[in-house]
Amino acid sequence: EKDKLEVFYKMHVDAARFFFQNLSNNKEVREYLYKRGIKDQTIRSFGLGYALNSWDSLLKYLRSRRYKEEDIVKCGLATKSEKGKVYDRFRNRIIFPVFDIRGRVIAFGARVLDDTKPKYLNSPETPIYNKGTHLYGLNFAKKNSKETSLVMVEGYMDLISLSQAGIQNVVASLGTALTKIQGRLLRRNSEEVYICYDADTAGQKATVRGLEILQAEGVKVKVVQISKGKDPDDYVREEGKEGFLKLLENALPLMEYKLIQEKEGLNLDSDEGRITYTKRIAEILNELDPIEKEVYLQKVSEDAGISERAIRKYMGNQNENSSMDTS
Ligand code: UTP
Ligand code: MN
Ligand code: MN
Ligand code: MN
Ligand code: MN
Repeated sequence: EKDKLEVFYKMHVDAARFFFQNLSNNKEVREYLYKRGIKDQTIRSFGLGYALNSWDSLLKYLRSRRYKEEDIVKCGLATKSEKGKVYDRFRNRIIFPVFDIRGRVIAFGARVLDDTKPKYLNSPETPIYNKGTHLYGLNFAKKNSKETSLVMVEGYMDLISLSQAGIQNVVASLGTALTKIQGRLLRRNSEEVYICYDADTAGQKATVRGLEILQAEGVKVKVVQISKGKDPDDYVREEGKEGFLKLLENALPLMEYKLIQEKEGLNLDSDEGRITYTKRIAEILNELDPIEKEVYLQKVSEDAGISERAIRKYMGNQNENSSMDTS
């Protein structure tokens, strides 16, 4: 019920304060963030913290503040073993509080200080946290940026580094597959979305899936392409704000991105490659309005060296086939 939720929100604030205090008291752990270019002011702005290397420090603290063990477990801040032993979920990790759009702490992400796996542990789904319905950083973006566009990145550190560099219109999907609800949240809070995922295989796959969701939700979208193997955090640290803004300027419109994707792995100097490419694109062109179709038809025709007339005819046949299928 409602009172219970209030208790859960309060518990998250108390936990966040505890983690923050731990970090303030630990120079060695702060060094990890300093080495990654994070400044004290940024630690404060995002309320970063540290979960002690202990099985029950948070538990003890929250119990001392009169929270019930059962509720602490319900919030995912502690875990109950099969034998019934209760212990802190997050141990010896950097803590990233997750805020909702109103700025309330609703969950935590927690990163190891070395190469141990898993790299991040996150709060589970709880009565106040339903992962797929939130975007990390949206509260900050709304408060600190006047831009009408939003840049969508994967991770906590991507968003925090960009913010520190002075780019505030950023949200993070936190590495999961983008949901329809997040798509709607993006549409309601921006006029245009720049997808800026990591330049690795996982990031590129997530980009394609994310594009489909955003397109279905009617979001205007562009794709930012970072140099291979890097993520926005790496990029902005190396190239600075100006470098990153250039990257945004060069973002590809959806269709341009698709053309490049479809070309991947094909040799357009071979007949087979040209045929496969053109047929793949024809399917995509069919989805466009007549004006867009005209523009991209010309591009593809030039790219593949196949006449617009032939492509049109192929598309016409495809349409006839599909209308026959459905009749
Ligand atoms: P990445 O693996 O790209 O990590 O995951 P990162 O954000 O660049 O982290 P650093 O720079 O190594 O510190 C992107 C996001 O996916 C989620 C996290 O939200 C992370 O920020 N993730 C990743 C997890 O939830 N668990 C994991 O084990 C890894
Ligand atoms: Mn929620
Ligand atoms: Mn990644
Ligand atoms: Mn990354
Ligand atoms: Mn990273």
